[in-house]
Amino acid sequence: MKPLSQLLSSIPPSATLAVNDKAKALKAAGRDVISLAGGDPDFDTPAHIVQAAFAAIEAGDTHYPPSRGTMAIRKAVADKMAREYGLEVDPASQVLVSPGGKFLIYAVLAALSNPGDEIIIFEPYWVSYVPIARLVGATPVTVTLRAEDGFTITAEDLAAHITPRTKAILVNSPNNPTGRVITRAEAEVIREAAIEHDLYVLSDEMYEKLIFEGEHINLASLPGMAERTVTVNGHSKAYAMTGWRLGWAVGPADIIGLAAKLQSQSVTSAASFTMAAGAAALNGPQDVVEQMRLSYKERRDYMVAALNAIPGVECDPPQGAFYLFVRFPGLSQDSMEIANRLLEEAEIAATPGIAFGQAGEGHVRFSIATAMTDLRRAVERIEKLMASV
Ligand SMILES: Cc1ncc(COP(=O)(O)O)c(C=O)c1O
Repeated sequence: MKPLSQLLSSIPPSATLAVNDKAKALKAAGRDVISLAGGDPDFDTPAHIVQAAFAAIEAGDTHYPPSRGTMAIRKAVADKMAREYGLEVDPASQVLVSPGGKFLIYAVLAALSNPGDEIIIFEPYWVSYVPIARLVGATPVTVTLRAEDGFTITAEDLAAHITPRTKAILVNSPNNPTGRVITRAEAEVIREAAIEHDLYVLSDEMYEKLIFEGEHINLASLPGMAERTVTVNGHSKAYAMTGWRLGWAVGPADIIGLAAKLQSQSVTSAASFTMAAGAAALNGPQDVVEQMRLSYKERRDYMVAALNAIPGVECDPPQGAFYLFVRFPGLSQDSMEIANRLLEEAEIAATPGIAFGQAGEGHVRFSIATAMTDLRRAVERIEKLMASV
């Protein structure tokens, strides 16, 4: 047989798969595994959003929608950007709605990249960035951020990685997996580098609504940034809508136009009635988002205090998102070993830090989008495990 795609074959399997597969096998064998490995809110999608989808289906909104998204949802996105950040965007040419934020990261990087263009990615990074950069033919260039410096972005570190081939900087705040929220000073470092070197910025703001300390900075709304920044966001995390597959990108019309071309020639569009629900989410009451944020904050506060009280465990409080990036100096520095021991000896599934790049080594990621009862049980098991080592 002739060889299959070299590009796809060269993308390594996710480092999280091994632990996830093992967790599934243990569960199938009847073991009571607590999963802290996912990134899926444990809340149901709020009722008024679900109702909007039912109403759209009943009204016959079940045909091909416009490829870039219905005008109703694109307008809802533009209104949100104007209301929250004073950013004027044209819903017709500067907004693209897609089946999920992940596809938009792919489509926007595809729109920006020619073969060999370099995309700067801060490490630890969300697991899909590096494979997506490779899939679009770009070269991912990682900038290592250090836990001991609080994963802070500095002008020196960034400058050291910019070359004539650099095309774009990918920023994720609040961050998955570290929970870091970038400061004004860090935003300024990124802005200055982007303007000085004429770079694009892809700002993944998926966890925008889940901030416990600090403020969210929309990079596109900073001076000189609107013409070079694409904001990617979505419904998954803020509205507990992971399964609906809905995300949006806002940016310069030429970039959005190329990303829209990729969408129209591949997945066509997001689903018609999920977009009706998505517009209702953006236009409707936001107290549901605030209630979920407060619940995540309560879990964060509980978990950070409980974990730090266990000898041999260290956990810095994340400022946003819904993950804890935890160290187990009393167990191991090797994140795969920590994850394996948590699974085998405490029946807790966690994501090894190495999945987020070398800079994630020594950590495991716990998701706190998990019911409080399970978090308490997980803490008891970790106490027992650490007492035994
Ligand atoms: C940082 C980050 N960006 C983007 C996404 C993609 O989300 P979705 O495709 O569900 O919109 C995720 C999902 O886990 C994420 O953590």
